[in-house]
Amino acid sequence: MSSPFILLLLLLLTSLTSLTSAWKRDEFRTCNQTPFCKRARTRSPHSLPPLSASQISLSDGKITAVLHRSPPEPEPDSQPEPETRLLLELSVYQNGVLRLKIDEDYSDSVSKRRFQVPDVLLPDLDDRRLFLSRLASPDPGSTVAFLSDGHEAVIRHDPFQIVVRRSGGGDPVISLNSHGLFDFEQLRTKKEGEDWEERFRSHTDARPHGPQSIALDVSFHGAEFVYGIPEHASASLALGRTRGRGVEESEPYRLFNLDVFEYLHDSPFGIYGSIPFMLSHSAEASSGFFWLNAAEMQIDVLGDGWDGAAGVGEAKRIDTLWMSEAGIVDAFFMVGPGPKDVLRQYASLTGTQAMPQEFAVAYHQCRWNYRDEEDVAGVDAGFDEHDIPYDVLWLDIEHTEGKKYFTWDKMLFPNPKEMQRKLADKGRHMVTIVDPHMKRDDSNSLHREATEKGYYVKDAGGRDYDGWCWPGSSSYPDMLNPEIREWWAEKFSFENYVGSTPSLYIWNDMNEPSVFNGPEVTMPRDVIHYGGVEHRELHNAYGYYFHMATANGLLKRGDGKDRPFVLSRAFFAGSQRYGAVWTGDNSADWDHLKSSVPMVLTLGLTGMSFSGADVGGFFGNPETDLLVRWYQLGAYYPFFRAHAHHDTKRREPWLFGERNTALMREAIHVRYSLLPYYYTLFREASVSGIPIMRPLWLEFPDDKETFNNGEAFMVGESLFVQGIYEQGQKSVSVYLPGQESWYNLKSGLAYAGGTYHKLEVFEDSIPSFQKAGTIVPRKERFRRSSTQMAKDPYTLVIALNSSLAAQGELYIDDGKSYDFEHGAYIHRQFSFLNDKLSSSSIKPANLGRKQFSSDTTIERIVILGLPAGTKRAVIEPGNREADIEPGPLTLRGGASPVAHIVRKPNLRISDDWTLRIL
Ligand code: NOJ
Repeated sequence: MSSPFILLLLLLLTSLTSLTSAWKRDEFRTCNQTPFCKRARTRSPHSLPPLSASQISLSDGKITAVLHRSPPEPEPDSQPEPETRLLLELSVYQNGVLRLKIDEDYSDSVSKRRFQVPDVLLPDLDDRRLFLSRLASPDPGSTVAFLSDGHEAVIRHDPFQIVVRRSGGGDPVISLNSHGLFDFEQLRTKKEGEDWEERFRSHTDARPHGPQSIALDVSFHGAEFVYGIPEHASASLALGRTRGRGVEESEPYRLFNLDVFEYLHDSPFGIYGSIPFMLSHSAEASSGFFWLNAAEMQIDVLGDGWDGAAGVGEAKRIDTLWMSEAGIVDAFFMVGPGPKDVLRQYASLTGTQAMPQEFAVAYHQCRWNYRDEEDVAGVDAGFDEHDIPYDVLWLDIEHTEGKKYFTWDKMLFPNPKEMQRKLADKGRHMVTIVDPHMKRDDSNSLHREATEKGYYVKDAGGRDYDGWCWPGSSSYPDMLNPEIREWWAEKFSFENYVGSTPSLYIWNDMNEPSVFNGPEVTMPRDVIHYGGVEHRELHNAYGYYFHMATANGLLKRGDGKDRPFVLSRAFFAGSQRYGAVWTGDNSADWDHLKSSVPMVLTLGLTGMSFSGADVGGFFGNPETDLLVRWYQLGAYYPFFRAHAHHDTKRREPWLFGERNTALMREAIHVRYSLLPYYYTLFREASVSGIPIMRPLWLEFPDDKETFNNGEAFMVGESLFVQGIYEQGQKSVSVYLPGQESWYNLKSGLAYAGGTYHKLEVFEDSIPSFQKAGTIVPRKERFRRSSTQMAKDPYTLVIALNSSLAAQGELYIDDGKSYDFEHGAYIHRQFSFLNDKLSSSSIKPANLGRKQFSSDTTIERIVILGLPAGTKRAVIEPGNREADIEPGPLTLRGGASPVAHIVRKPNLRISDDWTLRIL
């Protein structure tokens, strides 16, 4: 492409991005500017004519019923409203999940079907449905279904309500329509003179099917806090009240995937992704609610006085109001009772985190843009010169030929394969960006093909929708269509993606989708998808389908043997099955550093375990101490990547003087030393749905001090991390939960649990601790990349609790393929009890025919909390004696002998053995 054209494009981009200095509130709709939201929100409780349930019966093990509402008396001279008639279906799944579906009765005349989101629920979900064979009617006004796990679902007939409660008429857990706010706008024919169009700024939404919104109230009983429903930038972990006494800015949490330029660090407005899943928690109970619906959603968390009542509501109950523009009710109630139970229940619906390749768990270096091959080689060499490991180098949009994805700018990247090979020789990988907007240009073969095949989404007039994005005029493949997803997936084959090699992986950006000249910077709601589905019905899942198709492309490329790595900006419930996400375009300021923790924790709670924020902040130039603190915190995010906007100064970790290079190297070393632990946690997340980075209360569900702590977090069940969020901070007050003590990861000193500590803050680390009672596997030799550390020996760090006991795990596989699904892995349990440390396998027998073996050894066993004077141990098998000497906590740690150490115990990681303290 000619350089004047590049200049012109750059100018255009600059006007779209850099010249504006802050979030443009006016570009986005508030609830008041969104008719369905305004209507539902201004409705008072029980003000609609009551809804009743009748004809309740059992069919195929599910409960069915008819919901009915008589229309209100018509105003004089106005047409009567139609009556409401809906079909209800209630089903029960294993492990405490109740599903409620409510949809129109299509036996009437309506021809348009409302959209039910396909492909999100696990395909085998139906196998886990329990067959209901008996209903009870304890009184004439209600029907009870018995759930298998100590709960029952009650349908109150008139007014209609659903209450899930503990068996035998026990305490309620979750209820629906307790405040009579349920409303379902049925599809109907336009009345004469009626105007269905909606206007926002210069955009008109034709709304050919008219109003079709749904509102419902959900009450979480026994709850003190609610969490979840990402994605919002938030300074707090628990969701604050959006209405009620004392609420200043009253805007509901919005779920609408949007490319929000310079988003605020604390706001209920919707950003890139949407997961309509909320969890509630108190010391007594936890529960969850998930509404599978991909249309715009707005959610109120209601505080005392929201309903106009003067008094204080039920002591522990949180009422919420959910409003969606379209779709059906397909809602899931999860009964806990513990918070991890709720997470498992949610994972049983939408799946768990895909197991990543090991390299993806290490450190990623990104920038918009690494200019050319020389720049790439320079950055790569910089890491080696400064003795800093990294695993992945990323190329942003400028690497392409005129923003045509799957191409390379021939001047800047003439030898892409060679470039990737050089990285691969050091065990490193490359990621390139592939966005969904396709340049409408005849030089773009993908565009020609998509046009010919009719693969683009259509505008309201039936033409290929044409919007504006990085390449200028662009169209968007219709990812709802499985045939188009297959076509897209093929584009990742080595033949089709010319210049790609097996060490290249993918980044999906702008997939909300971002459309610079569209309403609210996205696609118009009346755009049409496969099967006549309107974009309004699907919007929040567009990015999900794009991510899915890309991940499948990488899977196909590797013959189903190579685990894909795809980072996506937009997401929906279930995206965890396709890869990682990040929190988008944050800013290089302390507030965004702080918000990153509640944001990543919330993503983890809603299934997206593999997530992180741009280290350093995307917009602006971080002060050096902010950058260092960000590395120290980011080293603990599940996804650890530095990234920066093209207008910012270069910020590779060695550009800030020797001392700061050392600090950033140290932070990255922390991550590399913990890679065995992180990889083990990824395994756990992929099996159970329990996230890697966890709110404190997930591990300490009874400890109220932790319930709204969004500044500190757990990594797995062993490590506690407290961020430092202020410049020049000298001390920090840290609450260490639980009854056991905590060992500082830097000093090895013990601190009491269950209390606050005022800690001095040092420049070389943020406060982090290992919980007494845990064993953490580490690797402490640093090389160029994680791949090169594969055969390095392990260190086990054992932190003994007050009973001189500890437990931990280690999971190892080939870090790359799916052989682990056929038994090719090692899973060890380490346990220290009665003066004896033992290693045993926790891999179930008969898993499959494939084997994974490792000769890797353990080079150090570090024990914290062992009484002074311990000198020797005996190792079995072999009846070998080993010395136990005082020493530092880490291989490169200071001289202070805080721990007891067994050096070179000469044990293989895959063997069973014991070490008995004499
Ligand atoms: C927006 C993304 O959020 C950002 O990370 C990326 O650098 C730019 N698009 C350019 O691709």
